[in-house]
Amino acid sequence: MKNFREMKRQGEKITALTAYDYPTARLLDESGIDIILVGDSVGMVVLGYEDTTRVTLSEMLHHTRTVARGVKHALLVADMPIHTYETPEQAVATARQLVDAGAQAVKLEGGVNRVPQIEAITREGIPFMAHIGMLPQSVREEGGYKVKGRTQSEAEALLADAQAVERAGAFSVVLEIVLAEIVKQITRAIEIPTIGIGSGEHCDGQILVTHDLIGLFPWFTPKFVSPQARVADEIRRAAAAFIEQTRNGPRI
Ligand code: KIV
Repeated sequence: MKNFREMKRQGEKITALTAYDYPTARLLDESGIDIILVGDSVGMVVLGYEDTTRVTLSEMLHHTRTVARGVKHALLVADMPIHTYETPEQAVATARQLVDAGAQAVKLEGGVNRVPQIEAITREGIPFMAHIGMLPQSVREEGGYKVKGRTQSEAEALLADAQAVERAGAFSVVLEIVLAEIVKQITRAIEIPTIGIGSGEHCDGQILVTHDLIGLFPWFTPKFVSPQARVADEIRRAAAAFIEQTRNGPRI
């Protein structure tokens, strides 16, 4: 595992993208990405669920095994899906299953409220990535994907979350759609790297859902993403060319 704290100290930005299948994992790995996350975003961009709250552990294990076959260099992190870390014991059992499936580290959503689970996981020697800010597994209670850190109390709670997950042994923390000014304060206040998604430039690294980056989920693109490719358009073009050629091309 790379020394991510050292990368932060040296000002070397950390790069992370999601993968859910073998070819994408292998392509990202060959591109030199630092971290590949088997995110529970698989539920939305691959499985067609409305949000991540229906993703099961068996789906995460299946995709983790698939991705693991394509990764040689990057750190492979797997998400712990909703309702699989209600207690420290359950969290450890879930983390172990993901590690057995090929993950080198695990991630779950929450800060201060999940410290017993995080401590239990790190005590087992399983590297742990935290995730605070907007928590997609709570999107239903929250009523949408809302920016975090707008009020003083929210900002204070975020800082407390970041410090708590660092103390509990996390090697890094994802900050999802957090106000840039608060991100700056958090990044300065802790020694583990902050990895941002929709949280501006003051993080020690950035993570994106690969489908958003490459334009493979054209029905919805978060506002903070600037796609670097239009893969959905290419698929449509290739399919249309095949259909046209098959229906109207020369008969052999
Ligand atoms: O599930 C996921 O893909 C994630 C990242 C976007 C941080 O948690």
